[in-house]
Amino acid sequence: MEIIEKAPAKINLGLDALYKRDDGYHELKMIMSSVDLADKLVFRELPQDEVIIETDSSFLPVDKRNHIYQAAQVLKKAYGIEKGVHVSVRKRIPVAAGLAGGSSDAAATLRGLNRLWQLGLSLDELAVLAVDVGSDVPYCVRGNTAVVSGRGDVLKPLPAMPQCWVVMVKPRISVSTRTVFGSLSFNDIHHPDIDAIEAAVVAQDYHEMVKHLGNSLESVTIQKHPIVQQIKDKMIKFGADAALMSGSGPTVFALCEKYSRAQRVSNGLKGFCQDVHIVRTLKQG
Ligand code: C5P
Repeated sequence: MEIIEKAPAKINLGLDALYKRDDGYHELKMIMSSVDLADKLVFRELPQDEVIIETDSSFLPVDKRNHIYQAAQVLKKAYGIEKGVHVSVRKRIPVAAGLAGGSSDAAATLRGLNRLWQLGLSLDELAVLAVDVGSDVPYCVRGNTAVVSGRGDVLKPLPAMPQCWVVMVKPRISVSTRTVFGSLSFNDIHHPDIDAIEAAVVAQDYHEMVKHLGNSLESVTIQKHPIVQQIKDKMIKFGADAALMSGSGPTVFALCEKYSRAQRVSNGLKGFCQDVHIVRTLKQG
């Protein structure tokens, strides 16, 4: 038997860091949305009790550091499964980019293995297991547009964000999420109005939504990597309706209502960065 799952990238329309919790994680309130750029995972049963990962990406480890491996182990341990699986990954989401590529692959693994091993678990049950793999994985189990709070484990589904074009630009630097959170100072932090973004998504008001995009982590990453600010400035100069860093970065995304604008932003940034994608927001489902 062969099971296929898509693992879409996400962007943060809003990310507010509220405070540092006793468990060392930060209490967050975010609006996340899936975009039409996805990895593809194919799962096949193996006769022996092993998790084997194969990928077309040279950036992805295929051992226990891979979130796919960790997700399979979480499921195997929780349900005492002694079966093996071969996972083949066609990687399209930039790695270590702030787009939840690894987390989305892990979530796709939970969904795929639930089907392959006929466990009959609901998405809610998978989301509970998912947090043991990483904070963004519970959201990625369902994807679409959602308010995500707590450590990343409290989910409130929203209607799909208003349709538009998303230009994603990843500079060639790597950013550690742990280091970005570690450098966050609550004396000097921007708190975006997450409720206003949520209300705009519910009202399907694109113009109100783009007014309120914001990310508490952006200034931390910009301080170390000014190129993030330069990309934002160029995106606005070339006609983007808004530009924001996703997650802990370093990817910056621009939102454009019109495709011609998205093309202009993309063309304008191509000379500056190699990793430039124009994608559509995803309709729900
Ligand atoms: O959960 P995950 O392993 O993806 O998180 C990576 C790092 O990001 C954590 O080790 C932690 O330093 C930071 N983090 C945080 N608060 C969150 C999520 C992540 O401080 N809610």
